[in-house]
Amino acid sequence: MTTVTSALELYTHRTPTSKRLFDEARRIIPGGVSRATLAFEPYPFYAADAAGAVITDVDGNDYIDLVNNYTSLPHGHGHPGTTRAATAQLAVSSAIGAAHTLEAEFAAELRGRIPAAERLHFTTTGSEAVGFAVRMGRVATGRTRVLKFEGGFHGSHNELYQDIAVSPTLDSGTAVPARPASAGLEPTGTITAVYNDPESVRAAFARWGGEIAVVVVEPFLGNAALVTAEPAFLDAIFEIAHGHGALVLFDEVQSLRAGFHGAQGIWGYTPDLVALGKIMGGGHPLAAFGGRAELFESLQGPDPAVLQTGTFTATPVALAAGQAAMAELDPAAYEGLERRTERLRSGIRDRFGRAGVPVRVNGIGSMFNISISDVDVRSFRAFRAADTSLFSALRLEMLNRGVLIMPRGTGCLSTAVTDSQVDHVLVAIEEGLTAVRGNR
Ligand SMILES: Cc1ncc(COP(=O)(O)O)c(C=O)c1O
Repeated sequence: MTTVTSALELYTHRTPTSKRLFDEARRIIPGGVSRATLAFEPYPFYAADAAGAVITDVDGNDYIDLVNNYTSLPHGHGHPGTTRAATAQLAVSSAIGAAHTLEAEFAAELRGRIPAAERLHFTTTGSEAVGFAVRMGRVATGRTRVLKFEGGFHGSHNELYQDIAVSPTLDSGTAVPARPASAGLEPTGTITAVYNDPESVRAAFARWGGEIAVVVVEPFLGNAALVTAEPAFLDAIFEIAHGHGALVLFDEVQSLRAGFHGAQGIWGYTPDLVALGKIMGGGHPLAAFGGRAELFESLQGPDPAVLQTGTFTATPVALAAGQAAMAELDPAAYEGLERRTERLRSGIRDRFGRAGVPVRVNGIGSMFNISISDVDVRSFRAFRAADTSLFSALRLEMLNRGVLIMPRGTGCLSTAVTDSQVDHVLVAIEEGLTAVRGNR
């Protein structure tokens, strides 16, 4: 009989088929998977099945899913209402390639929820949505530069795939030309400033004010501990950007999950432009960009100034799935999610407190983030200073106890998660903390 002595050995012992599949895949697919986010050390498990809040791997291990395809599944896996709507459309055509009534229907429903989306267009991904929103802002202002914030992730296209979660930190009150986050990207005119730092926004506009078309900001840093935008920071962005004739774009691709009217509804800001994605497709590839009506004139007419195309844009299957999923995400569903997630957030603080490990648990609505830190994580700098190696050890202990959370410490609940599953997660954290402390 094999004796298992470490969390790593236990993981390898529990997941031999995944290890074999990953090794085989790597011979053809560099990195093992096309979507880098899905690979983690020592190797990812391979999913065989999923139902509700649980994923089952190819070796028969169950995991409570707190990742939800990186926050995009509002109701977990195989949600009956979403599945029914999508399969009914699928039986007709997977991508009909003709105008479809569902498009305007769902657009009107989204307009009713999202104050900034007076007009909107659908896209397939959040990356495209942000990219097109930026384009609308450039056309409206006649300028080209984009101002973003360090730690902000807005998708994989050139001008915004800059200074994301792994970049070095900037000094407060400064702004710099953005640094590409990947080999192969050309330098762009993008500027990076410091999140939650009004002086940094001022510095950016003092230097590049006449050239900045759009300020792109996430209501919370989805890739960096869910650091939340403070009111003084958002106030400064609106005041300074508008004072210089620039537009404000909220990237709500992820934060749409925060509340029925998105994060903008919670904080009471209406940006000029907005990008939406993730949950709005109910697990299918669907996103959108929207904004003030007059900013969208360049998309009107037979020969629009901005041309948006895309072979798989707004397929009826994705529209039907998104419409069904969002219909069940009514204010009562958001309230239930918030209540259950708050119980989880405070339970995590409690378990860490009992274990004597310093923690900061950020999060809003159905989202939470665990940072092993003894200072509040309200800036990108504080996010970068947290103890990631201790968290990685804890995460492996959690995996071995049937709980899946993102390697960066972030998780979210779907409506499929039950109270007893929240209890299971808390036990996994408690036992995991005991194990990692014992190993140090
Ligand atoms: C805030 C934010 N914007 C944009 C994107 C890009 O969306 P997609 O992955 O659908 O292209 C993401 C994806 O994680 C995101 O979190």
